[in-house]
Amino acid sequence: MDIRIFPNHEAMTAAAADAVAGVITRKPDALICLAAGHTPVDLMKRLVVHAREGKFPKDRFRFISLDEWVGLGPKDSGSCIHDVGKYFLDDMGLERGARMFFFDGLAKDMQAQIDGAKAFLAAHGPIDVIVLGIGMNGHIGFNEVGSAFDSDVRVLPLDETSKTVGAKYFDTPRTLESGITIGMRQILEAKKAFLLASSAKKADIVRQALKDPPTERVPASVLQKHPAATAFLDAGAAAKLNG
Ligand code: PGA
Repeated sequence: MDIRIFPNHEAMTAAAADAVAGVITRKPDALICLAAGHTPVDLMKRLVVHAREGKFPKDRFRFISLDEWVGLGPKDSGSCIHDVGKYFLDDMGLERGARMFFFDGLAKDMQAQIDGAKAFLAAHGPIDVIVLGIGMNGHIGFNEVGSAFDSDVRVLPLDETSKTVGAKYFDTPRTLESGITIGMRQILEAKKAFLLASSAKKADIVRQALKDPPTERVPASVLQKHPAATAFLDAGAAAKLNG
């Protein structure tokens, strides 16, 4: 696994955005998958600037969302569909359409959401580049602690850590119990996987994910098994890698 360390969040984000833009430049119809959460927001904003400057075409890439809170929809700030729209698609003047798949966290039939993601991946996959954050418990997407390394697209209960930490995304208190996510299998099948982590509060889990032997107790450690994974870290997140 390639580990790249940058002096700060801005430099880390700039490098990761350049790398994603490079994938789309080389393959304009690339299938990309971006995590929501706070860490990738600046990456999305930089991609919008790159697209506006014509550094990559914005009219052909395909998109699949990484995960979603079950119970939240496009109008809910903090949902993936809302935040990817706000920070990425809207500013590029793109609407959700046939070349994009978003989980609908408000759907009554979550199995249909799972089937929809699988059908989209069968038609458009594998993912060319997937951008992941890392949770304080090591989750990637909503692949929570204990997720099998061959797990598929699925709905699963949220860890207490995800529920507690997740409160930072919402304007009003939410009671959310489960999430829907792309599985570890799809992450391992992605042609490139980028893990982004910022700040010293992530240093312990980043160390466990990148340096300790891979274990299902630390979901992000699956990336050590990925043939083309890169970790983009700021100095804070990388602070314990050599400890
Ligand atoms: P964050 O979330 O980028 O808001 O820290 C990471 C995650 O839980 O995946």
